[in-house]
Amino acid sequence: MFKHHDKIERNSVLLLILTTILVSIGGLVEIAPLFRIEQTIEKVEGMRPYTPLELVGSKIYKREGCYGCHSQQIRVLRDEVERYGHYSLAAESMYDFPFQWGSKRTGPDLARVGGKYSDAWHVRHLVNPRDVVPESIMPGYKFLLERDAQISGISADMEVLRKLGVPYSDEMIQNSTSDAVIQGSNDRDADALQKRYGGKVNVHDFDGDPNKISEMDALVAYLQVLGTFVDFAKFEPVKTPTPVIPAKAGIQK
Ligand code: HEC
Repeated sequence: MFKHHDKIERNSVLLLILTTILVSIGGLVEIAPLFRIEQTIEKVEGMRPYTPLELVGSKIYKREGCYGCHSQQIRVLRDEVERYGHYSLAAESMYDFPFQWGSKRTGPDLARVGGKYSDAWHVRHLVNPRDVVPESIMPGYKFLLERDAQISGISADMEVLRKLGVPYSDEMIQNSTSDAVIQGSNDRDADALQKRYGGKVNVHDFDGDPNKISEMDALVAYLQVLGTFVDFAKFEPVKTPTPVIPAKAGIQK
């Protein structure tokens, strides 16, 4: 083949055709497996779709551009794992549309911030970050306390997410508004909600005002579940064979 290489290089049309064929093969090899994305993501136990209230919170997170300063992806680097916890798994963001991996960390990564602080800490921090972290440059979001969370419209979002593959059932969509109210209130019967989304769902008032489901309730409910779905005490990564590194000739200890 190398004998005829000069012929190909001198014929620009032939070179173009052959290059296109070669690049197409390379592209197919890389892209085709991703069409079967459900097989590409390693399944893990514990993943569940967001509850309606958490979903409203995730919308506020996107609306306020929190991703502009915060990533949600812990990389497989030692310093990151030591600081933030277990590295992120693909499955952990499989119900995020769009995913919130981010590319900028003005503030810390939030992939596992769930359960790290109390609700009251989050509320104080979001109202005025400098009240709890004096040197913080994060802006305050006090208005979230005053605004009602838009929970009645969330069923439409859930229907769209279902089309994208998030396993919301008819029952979850039909009960979305009441589920959101129940999750953000104290002393309400949450059995049906916990049956739908699992017993670990946090059910209580988040923002300190039990008479209202505010945007603060929704955002804190969302922050408090980030990174908490998978139980890493039980998680075992798929074993890949350890590569055998041949001993290098000539290098002596
Ligand atoms: C201008 C950049 C910026 C924006 C926008 C921003 N943050 Fe922050 N955030 C920071 C910085 C810097 C810190 C670290 C200092 C601190 O704790 O306040 C931080 C810290 C945090 C923490 C504490 C994390 C930890 O592990 O200690 C949370 C939670 C948080 N931000 C949530 C949010 C949310 C939710 C939004 C959107 C409503 C947001 N941030 C928007 C910069 C930002």
